[in-house]
Amino acid sequence: MKRLAVALLPFAFALTATAVQADGEATYNQACMACHMTGAAGAPIRGDADAWAPRQEKGMDTLYDHAINGFQAMPAKGGQPALSDDEVKAAVDYMLEPTL
Ligand code: HEC
Repeated sequence: MKRLAVALLPFAFALTATAVQADGEATYNQACMACHMTGAAGAPIRGDADAWAPRQEKGMDTLYDHAINGFQAMPAKGGQPALSDDEVKAAVDYMLEPTL
């Protein structure tokens, strides 16, 4: 029994690490995709480098701030105040990933 516990220990650590780390893709799919996949209301589309280039020039801190607090037609946290700041930041990272 003790050997089994020792064998399972790394898995327990792996699971904890996944749970703590915000999952940008999941947050994007759940809270951001509706606008950022279609370009609804002028939202920059994920992977559209031309749409993101001028925004990236503002710096990541500004983009995080705008995603968390809202910016013009972009609702704060995509309209989901239950999301943590870290979840929203991870979603921004995921959204910009193909253009980096
Ligand atoms: C209801 C539609 C909608 C949803 C949902 C939405 N966005 Fe947006 N987002 C927009 C629009 C529209 C803009 C463009 C705003 C502008 O430039 O006028 C935008 C812009 C942005 C920008 C660029 C801000 C800047 O300063 O240029 C970021 C980053 C962003 N959204 C992140 C997110 C994240 C992360 C989520 C999910 C948590 C999300 N958005 C959900 C509509 C949406």
